[in-house]
Amino acid sequence: MKTIVIKDIKTEFDRIKNAIANHGLIIFPTETVYGIGAAIDDERAVRQIFAVKGRPQDNPLIVHIAEFDQLKDLVTEIPASATKLMQKFWPGPLTLVFKKKPTVIDAITARLPTVAIRMPRHPQAQTLLKILKKPLCAPSANISGKPSGTTFDEVFKDFDGKVDIIVRGEPSDIGLESTVLDVTSSPVKLLRPGAITREHIENLLGEKIKATFSSDVPPSPGMKYTHYKPYGKVIILDGTKEKVAAYLKTIREKSVVFMGSNEYCEGLTVSTYSLGSMKNLDAIAKNLYPTLRRLDELRIETIYAQAFPLNGIGEALMNRLDKSSGHTVIKL
Ligand code: TXA
Ligand code: MG
Repeated sequence: MKTIVIKDIKTEFDRIKNAIANHGLIIFPTETVYGIGAAIDDERAVRQIFAVKGRPQDNPLIVHIAEFDQLKDLVTEIPASATKLMQKFWPGPLTLVFKKKPTVIDAITARLPTVAIRMPRHPQAQTLLKILKKPLCAPSANISGKPSGTTFDEVFKDFDGKVDIIVRGEPSDIGLESTVLDVTSSPVKLLRPGAITREHIENLLGEKIKATFSSDVPPSPGMKYTHYKPYGKVIILDGTKEKVAAYLKTIREKSVVFMGSNEYCEGLTVSTYSLGSMKNLDAIAKNLYPTLRRLDELRIETIYAQAFPLNGIGEALMNRLDKSSGHTVIKL
């Protein structure tokens, strides 16, 4: 298949429309990560998403909308908590899980009675969804089990020749996938932490929320899979800069790097990959996936990683790092 790369959605709209009408897939940038989209009423295209990603069939997809009006065709109920959250955080990096209408096809929701919906704020994603006048279901654009694609170059490398269209955009602002929140229960349940943080949600709703992403029983089908798994083994070192430096002095293996903040990387005895300054946890979060991909390409065998504070975006950052390590943490 010849993949067409498009920058300006409006001038190339006929090509996009044709591709979508012919069961095609389109990769587009969002503020979190790039997505790989199919029309929500096109079962053949939806199945193709699972095929090109190598994604397990029982892991449901997120539906992306551009207008609040599109919600009523997808869900049976809009709880009061959801209305508040949508008013405050949509468009933006927050996905809400609702009770679904029967019109939402099973291929998207993996036969669950619920559907996950988000309204991205990225201008190219918005333009695309608005002119298509139809929602797109889209998981992150990555081969299953690899870090999500956050730059054009990454998604082009993984999907050139496998999808009809790739929309070329800037690197995703946030660099980690959206927060996923189940609003079908009260209190609402946090299924995946993201840039809309637990604090943001609790402050708005005025109540404590439940977080289920760290429990043993996966409440969201995607959670039972090891996501974000790089080639090498990731080991999290949880301790002060001094303790981390002392621990790494004892390491004799060859193919080893340390991935952490500028502050922690300084003066270490092993090769270092800095994610940025501790003063800017957002930038550190944004650099995580590209750095893991780089270390993959270099076939680094052991990646020691810094443990970051859990406040703000830190909870999402540590969730992804923890998953990439298969929950391997050394407390120093
Ligand atoms: O930021 C994002 O959310 C990106 C961009 C492209 O929008 N998309 C994304 O999709 O990360 P994906 O498929 O990689 O992750 C979707 C997550 C999965 O963990 C899936 O199990 C969960 O959302 N999910 C989808 N539908 C669900 C449902 N009905 N109930 C519970 N979890 C659901
Ligand atoms: Mg994903």
